[in-house]
Amino acid sequence: MSTLFTPFKIGPLLLKNRSIRAAAFEGMCAGHQLSNELLDYHLSVARGGVAMTTIAYAAVEKSGLSFPHQLLINDSLKPSLKLFADKIHQEDTALSIQIGHCGNMSKYSLIGRRPWSATSHINLYAPCFAKAMTQKDMRQISLSFAKATQIAIDCGLDAIEIHAGHGYLISQFLSPYINTRRDEFGGSIENRMKFMTMVMEEVLGVAKDKIAVIVKMNMDDGFKEGMHKEEALIVAKKLETIGVHALVLSGGYVSKAPMYVMRGDMPLKTLASKMDNKMMGIFTRVFGNKLIPSLDFKENYFLDDATYFRKNVSLPLIYVGGILSKKNIDEALDAGMDFVAIARALISNPSFINDIKSDETKQAICDTCNHCIAVMYNGPFECNKHQLIHHES
Ligand SMILES: Cc1cc2nc3c(=O)[nH]c(=O)nc-3n(C[C@H](O)[C@H](O)[C@H](O)COP(=O)(O)O)c2cc1C
Repeated sequence: MSTLFTPFKIGPLLLKNRSIRAAAFEGMCAGHQLSNELLDYHLSVARGGVAMTTIAYAAVEKSGLSFPHQLLINDSLKPSLKLFADKIHQEDTALSIQIGHCGNMSKYSLIGRRPWSATSHINLYAPCFAKAMTQKDMRQISLSFAKATQIAIDCGLDAIEIHAGHGYLISQFLSPYINTRRDEFGGSIENRMKFMTMVMEEVLGVAKDKIAVIVKMNMDDGFKEGMHKEEALIVAKKLETIGVHALVLSGGYVSKAPMYVMRGDMPLKTLASKMDNKMMGIFTRVFGNKLIPSLDFKENYFLDDATYFRKNVSLPLIYVGGILSKKNIDEALDAGMDFVAIARALISNPSFINDIKSDETKQAICDTCNHCIAVMYNGPFECNKHQLIHHES
């Protein structure tokens, strides 16, 4: 019997079923504000049957922004975020928000200074010359994560998802590739996860049992010099020990192994056409295959790694990666995952969950062409195969 449509808890939060809309950058927050377009999309997902939807990729402070159409959390957001949560709750759906800091992926033109990271280095992918953070900087960022958590609580959100994967700031500290610090924050994995622990202790101190706290982390960075699953398991165990309520198990590193996150090909022509900087567009067309190499897509591509984590930790686990059918969902739940998070299948069809509820043989519309990723660089995501279904908000 499938457990998909049975309720289950993440910390203090009871969800009506096991499906969550994964954090996937919508590109709908011009001026760093919430928009009706974003609300309409998430309402359509909520009406489509998921237990919880997630607003993606919100920066905890200005220094962590990488896009002009990315959400920035601060006090002025409170009225609109509260309204957003109320509207989603009216659809009997919970609301989560993913919060993060882009570190060396932050954009100089938006933040007005050198991006911060674990060490000073050149990041060709952004491109920028990142500055190594001091302990004072780390403390400041930790407090910004805590403040964002408080704002989410004040606005009635049900969960907060800390982005600790994909090569953004926390992941830059965790990964031996970037983190070559010689102080107590570098070296062993125990040292490299100290910044993450600092952030999480601040977040958990504010969250208590008022909001579910989820961490999205890498099981593997996806390239040789990165963090691999043995070290990632130490990270997962630490997060479990300090009281995090659930983990989203992902992988990949935007500046080194971008397709490890999603698999398949990046549509380079589309991506190049979306770049504001003409030179970057030409560079992407010419060298794109080297910078963003394709990686074969397979359904449930992270399930083997996630199963290894399942055997070694006992907190709730959220599986993400390559779900295109009810069969894929059942396989993940049968392997011991407590929830599934879904991105592309819900971008192409917000009603995917209701559709498979009425016909369990139904396949997702998504063909993993990754057009949705390429276009979000300077505008809202859209699906190549299927226009977003907009509903009245
Ligand atoms: C358009 C798009 C934007 C994404 N943006 C984010 C993001 O902001 N934060 C994040 O953690 N993952 C992001 N992802 C990755 C997804 O959350 C998910 O981990 C990945 O797509 C695999 O799930 P799927 O096979 O169901 O699409 C994004 C994926 C897509 C397709």
